[in-house]
Formats: sequence, C-alpha cells, structure tokens
Amino acid sequence: MLSRRSFLWASSGAAAVAALPATAIRAQAAAPELVARENAVQLLPLDYPETTVWGYGGQAPGREIRVAQGDRIQRRFVNRLPQASSVHWHGLRAENAMDGVSGLTQEAVRPGGSFAYDLAAEDAGTFWYHSHNRSAEQVARGLYGPLIVDEPTPPDVDRDATLMLDDWRVDPETGQIADDFGALHDLSHGGRQGNFISTNGEAAYRLPVKRNDRLRLRIVNAANARLFTLGLQGLDGWLMAYDGMPVAIPEPVPETIALGPGQRVDLFVDITADEGQEALIGRLEQSGGFVQAAFPVSGNASASRRPPPAPLPPNRAPDLTGLAEAATLRLEMSGGAMGGMSEAIWKGASRTAGELMEDGQFWAFNGLVGMTETPLARLPLGQVARMTVVNDTVFPHAMHLHGMHFRILAEDGTPGPLRDTLLTLRGESHEIVFAADNPGRWAFHCHMLSHAASGMMTWIEVT
Ligand code: C2O
Ligand code: CU
Repeated sequence: MLSRRSFLWASSGAAAVAALPATAIRAQAAAPELVARENAVQLLPLDYPETTVWGYGGQAPGREIRVAQGDRIQRRFVNRLPQASSVHWHGLRAENAMDGVSGLTQEAVRPGGSFAYDLAAEDAGTFWYHSHNRSAEQVARGLYGPLIVDEPTPPDVDRDATLMLDDWRVDPETGQIADDFGALHDLSHGGRQGNFISTNGEAAYRLPVKRNDRLRLRIVNAANARLFTLGLQGLDGWLMAYDGMPVAIPEPVPETIALGPGQRVDLFVDITADEGQEALIGRLEQSGGFVQAAFPVSGNASASRRPPPAPLPPNRAPDLTGLAEAATLRLEMSGGAMGGMSEAIWKGASRTAGELMEDGQFWAFNGLVGMTETPLARLPLGQVARMTVVNDTVFPHAMHLHGMHFRILAEDGTPGPLRDTLLTLRGESHEIVFAADNPGRWAFHCHMLSHAASGMMTWIEVT
C-alpha cells in the first residue's frame, strides 16, 4: 500500500505528498503589490522545523493571480530579497517588455527596488509566474505562483483546483533549503532534484469531494528539474489543455501523465471512488510511489456522472498557413555528463570542457554555451518557423519558448496541440513549428533550471 507520509529521504526511491487548501484561493481585489521576501513557513509536516523560503507575499507558492481573459495583469513588483530579481509570466503571449527576463527584456530589480508589470492576458488557461533571475536558485527557494486566466463563461465543474508540484532539497534536521544551487553534479546531470515533494507548498494536499463530483485540476510542474509522472486512481476523465492551451477534442486522461518542468495540463475528472474511499493522484506504483493529492470522498454523491465535457473555448491559434515556406531552424543540444562535449564557444571564444567546467558550464546549443550576443534566429514578424530539436545528450530536457506557443509535428507531419514547453528525452529528436507573431526578444531555454544556468539558454528575435 502507499504510504501517504513518506519522504524521499526516508527510504530509497520512495517519497512524499503535499497540498494546498483548495478552498478559496481566488484572489478578489487585485493586490497592487507583488512583494518578494524571505519568510519562515511550515513547508514540512508539523513535526519538522519551519523552512525559510523566498516567496511572493512571503508564501511559497505565491498567492494566486487570477484575472478574466482580456484583462490586464498589473502588479508592482517590490523586491525585498537580498538578491536582484525579476518576474516572468510563464506561457502568456504578452508584451515583450513585460516578459521579465533579466538581462534580455529588463534589468533585474535590485534589492529594495521595484518594477511595474502591466501585461495583457490574451489567453484563458493555466499559467504560472516565477523569478527569471538566477532562477535555478530563486525558484528553488520558492519564488513562483499560479497565474490563472478565466474563460468568459466558467465551464461546468464542481471544483477548480490548482496543483503546483515541486520538489525541495531540504535538510530534514534543520528544515532549511540546501544552498548548494551550483552543485556541479546537478548542473551536469539531471539538475537539482529535491528530497521532499509538495503540492502547493504542502506535504499532504487533501481536497474533500463527493462521488461524481467533476473537478477541474490545473497541474503545474514548478520543480527545478524533476519530471513528474502521474497516474489517477478513483478519478477518471479528460485532458482538456496542455500548457494553458485547450485541445480541440478532449482526450481521455492517459494512463500516465508526464510533466516536464514548466509544463501544465488541465484535466476534467469525475470522482468514481466510493464514499469513505480516497481518490488519488500521484506516482501510484506499488513501490517507490507517492501521493501528490488525495481526495477523500464523503457525503451524498452528486446526482450522477455528467456527460463528457465540451472542449474549452480555443485561444487564438497562430497562423501557420506559411508552413510550406517555413524558415528552417535547428537546435542541437549537447553536453552534460557522459556527453563527451570536448569544446564549445562561450563568451565569444572556444573553451575546453575543463575550462567550461571551472565556470560551471556543461551544455551547449549548436556548440554555443549560454546567452550569446546574437540570437539563435532572427525572424521577421509573421514568419512561420520550423525547428528540428535534437537531444544529443543522455538526459531529458524541457525546452521552453517565451512569447509564442508552438506545435509539435507528429511523425507523419500532423501538427499537435499548442505547447510552450517541449519535453525531450535522451536521444530524441522533434520537429516544432511556430508563427513568429509576437515582436521582441524571446528567451528559449531548458526549464531544468540547473541546465539553463549551465549553458542551455538562448533567444529568438522577432522583428
Ligand atoms: Cu518558466 Cu524562461 O521560464
Ligand atoms: Cu535540460
């Protein structure tokens, strides 16, 4: 049986659980300030010490930001952290100047400083916001939160709950976050993996439900590097959206949902477990599994199961009619442990692997390490681009494109659903297509944040 209170450090391969009071997170009046600050919170279960996190509003995750589709998101970001920071609105196709990428779209906001963010929420769906300066450290310390854009007509569900999944690397004795953010082994291997798994910053997320309730679950992978693979038990339903973008036809929830860092799914699921039981989401293998969210079933069942849902209203589709004359781009990933990257260009000069390692750099895109003065591609506004992404490493990566969503082409060339983050496993190669329809300088990087910090970061310019 699954232990609902196990930790990754307690037994090899096993793990923990977590949650958020799924009641009442809908922010009413928009808070004008978004204050990033240090705070001690009960991240671990009660019999453990408090943990000092860096959080928006002092919470980790930060409080939910929720607006109606078409409204503007307006927040005065106030930095009370000991480090410079900036805020990125992951997945929003908004104005470049508001994208929050320090060093590319703005200067990082110094400690004590502030920055007025004001951006359009064009698309309805499940997004998130997080630090985009030294993010391998700052996101791991807690600087992220949910960003929900509501459809004009709320879909027919009984509950709407966001599940932000994360893993933390904490010392169980002191309760403190390990500050080894630049550990070379993490940078060069699978990134910073935590030893305590949470949902919404809590160890044991529980949401009481009734049989036949229909839930909308917005699942966000906010971890630095962990790939979550989730199964369902006692709930059943449809996958409605990937990375904030509705699918045209709701798909039955697959047996396993794989979520790379930065990725999201929206599910509509009905509670099929009986009264007195618990429906579960998590890694539900008999051994080495953990529960990510539990849904105790009580009270009188809601009448009966609803009919299958209609699709969510589509967001604006990018214009891919120029696909036949698309600009062709290529992104070849190399490096990492066991990758045999002997040399690469960094800061304009060729460096040996040894020299790169001394500076904590392990990965390259097309032989170039980290941000370069010239972008990976410069595309005229409206140009359709087709990119081959080759993972010539032995690790998975999660490539996130800012400002525009792309489609992954199936083997037969059929364009798949819109996504903003591509999960690519070792040795895989993918074709993605997108319309360069949003002007500006857009970051394009691995969302395994340790990888982004050690070379997997580039940008695309749309003019
Ligand atoms: Cu979620 Cu470049 O970020
Ligand atoms: Cu990566």
